[in-house]
Amino acid sequence: RPLMAIGPLHLLACAFVLNQWLFKGLILVFSVFFVYVWLLTHFLLSGLGISNGERWHQLRRFTLATLRDFGMGRKGMEEWIQEESKHLRAHTPFDPTFLLSCTVSNVICCLAFNQRFHYEDKHFLRLLNIISNLEEIFLKESCIVLCASLPQMYNIFPWLMEHLPGHQHTVFAQIEEIREFIKKKIQEHKETLDPSSPRDYIDCFLIRMDQEKNNPTTEFNYDNLVCTLMNLFLAGTETTSSTIRYALNVLIKYPNIQEKMQHEIDVVIGKNRCPNMEDRKSLPFTDAVIHEVQRFLDIVPFSVPHHALHDISFRGYTIPKDTVILPLLHSVLKGEKEWATPWSFNPQHFLDQNGNFKKNPAFLPFSAGKRSCVGESLARMELFIFLVSLLQHFTFSCTEGPDSINLIPEYSSFANLPRRYQIIATPR
Ligand code: HEM
Repeated sequence: RPLMAIGPLHLLACAFVLNQWLFKGLILVFSVFFVYVWLLTHFLLSGLGISNGERWHQLRRFTLATLRDFGMGRKGMEEWIQEESKHLRAHTPFDPTFLLSCTVSNVICCLAFNQRFHYEDKHFLRLLNIISNLEEIFLKESCIVLCASLPQMYNIFPWLMEHLPGHQHTVFAQIEEIREFIKKKIQEHKETLDPSSPRDYIDCFLIRMDQEKNNPTTEFNYDNLVCTLMNLFLAGTETTSSTIRYALNVLIKYPNIQEKMQHEIDVVIGKNRCPNMEDRKSLPFTDAVIHEVQRFLDIVPFSVPHHALHDISFRGYTIPKDTVILPLLHSVLKGEKEWATPWSFNPQHFLDQNGNFKKNPAFLPFSAGKRSCVGESLARMELFIFLVSLLQHFTFSCTEGPDSINLIPEYSSFANLPRRYQIIATPR
């Protein structure tokens, strides 16, 4: 299958923003990278994340509208995040990975299930463990198996997977566990649904399913609900919590940056009031650091692979149907032409000469165009409120000192994940 990587900025913007390339097809495409394609697609065949055409249109429109109704990018969600940030208090030294996953995941849980879980809740912890295990398996094994050309074998003989020993069985069982959890939540919602007062994403979807039950072309069905919830849960947890964890590593490595942010936050908000999104305008340095964290981490360097659903004519070339298209976000986020010092952590990339926040069109960690991240506003809100709230209350450090922090991500295939450290959070 032909593969085309697309970057830098002007080509990516032209293809995904101006020409509005929408297609995606993880079924075909992920096979290039991942061991467990067949298993995953078996579980995630429906839903927003890997669909195309009418299904994608209906689910994307509905998901964006519902997330907005429940406050994505607005006040309601702000309060949930503020509430959740109060639970980000821990003993030191500690590895914040799991705590941050709990915090971030709870925001999605509020949105999807109208429920926040205690950080000791066994079910919740089990789910987060699964997500973390899946990540480990994918990142470590996909590289090994890629070298051994096994993915091709999996594509040709998917049924063999059932019989071969290996991690696929664990992955299979664990994804099924998340699915069962989601199905249970849907059932509970069905039993308590009051159509005049929807509580969350599930309620809204159930109401829509009922309204469209006689429409033969509707995409509002049970399978799409389960899979879209899985998309939101999986896509919304690790990306955001890993970015916050990376930000903490940055703050420990550069104590002067941390101090400057704390000073700015102290002057504008103080220590007693919860931060809100309005504050962002008055915190240009803090905002610039958070943007630079996302740029420098470059969490999904190839974004999510797309593929051509039909022949495409682009800049005098024909891209044949079924070509795998990798949007190289990495080439944009680390582009020599786009940034003064692409390979250094430099908040000045987002500040003008007067210290005001300055946008840069090459800031594309959420990809671009109509198929870009559906959770962007939520993620940006979480990053801002959680980080500001943490800096109001703590100073971060580690026992081995700033130089011991390595900002180069752990070796990975699909995602750049920050290294883990035992950190110290000293109350201010
Ligand atoms: C720092 C945090 C995040 C980053 C960097 C990020 C990045 C991305 C990227 C690069 C894509 C692929 C876009 C493409 O196909 O071209 C994507 C898609 C997606 N993201 Fe995120 N994301 C983040 C947080 C979230 C959150 C919080 C949610 C949940 C509300 C979410 C849900 C999704 C979904 C459902 C898709 C598929 C959208 C579609 O196919 O239409 N993401 N994200």
